[in-house]
Amino acid sequence: MLIGFFDSGVGGITVLHDALQALPNADFIYYADTDNVPYGTKTKAQVKDYVMNAADFLVGHGAGVLVVACNTATSVAIKALRQKYDIPIIGMEPAVKPAVENHKDKRILVTATALALKLDKLKKLITTLDCEDIVDLLPLPGLVRFAEDMTFDTETVLPYLREELSRFDMQNYQTVVLGCTHFIYFRHVFRALLGGEIELIDGNQGTVNMLVKTLDELRAPLGGAGKITWYQSGAQVTDEQTLQRFEALLKRLNEAR
Ligand code: SIN
Repeated sequence: MLIGFFDSGVGGITVLHDALQALPNADFIYYADTDNVPYGTKTKAQVKDYVMNAADFLVGHGAGVLVVACNTATSVAIKALRQKYDIPIIGMEPAVKPAVENHKDKRILVTATALALKLDKLKKLITTLDCEDIVDLLPLPGLVRFAEDMTFDTETVLPYLREELSRFDMQNYQTVVLGCTHFIYFRHVFRALLGGEIELIDGNQGTVNMLVKTLDELRAPLGGAGKITWYQSGAQVTDEQTLQRFEALLKRLNEAR
């Protein structure tokens, strides 16, 4: 059973990394839509088109399960994907529910792309859960750019994040929700800025748990060995430099554990 992973770029590698730990006997194909990244600044119609094309590609290349490892793509297209394909489609949940359920007397900041924050999926979730009006929203498009450029050093990223967070009094916050898979690479920068008191949560583990449960239910033999075949917008990645870039990201995530 080949597992297909999809993201606008490198963000989904943070979910793939966790899936590799949980499923060492599976093989994966990873599709980064690098021709069209970032999704967060595009229209809903554009993103839906990109996602359907990528899913056609992954299903055509033998994926038996599809993980949409991108919050924006999930919000835009998960329903349409589930209507179109017979295979299980697993998306991202931005972890707002556990944040609200565990909240005490401080506020919650939900960060994501501008598009994801505007879409009905997140709006409905927040309207349902946020009865006490404790959730604030913040788009962080710069973090998507930094991740795609492989810029992770605290000195470069911290001033951007400090500026973005400066409109909130972070002393009043209990939790920051990382609602975009690209943001996972910057936990160290959030920590450097916010210290250890504020909780950082994301939906990655929930998605991987759902993937494991789905595979258990399918009872299909995994028959793999942790092999990853990489694609960028429909073309298999064979050049050493790009392969090394993806491997370096997995290594970075291993070291951050
Ligand atoms: C982006 O391409 O803007 C990031 C999409 C996401 O992970 O939500």
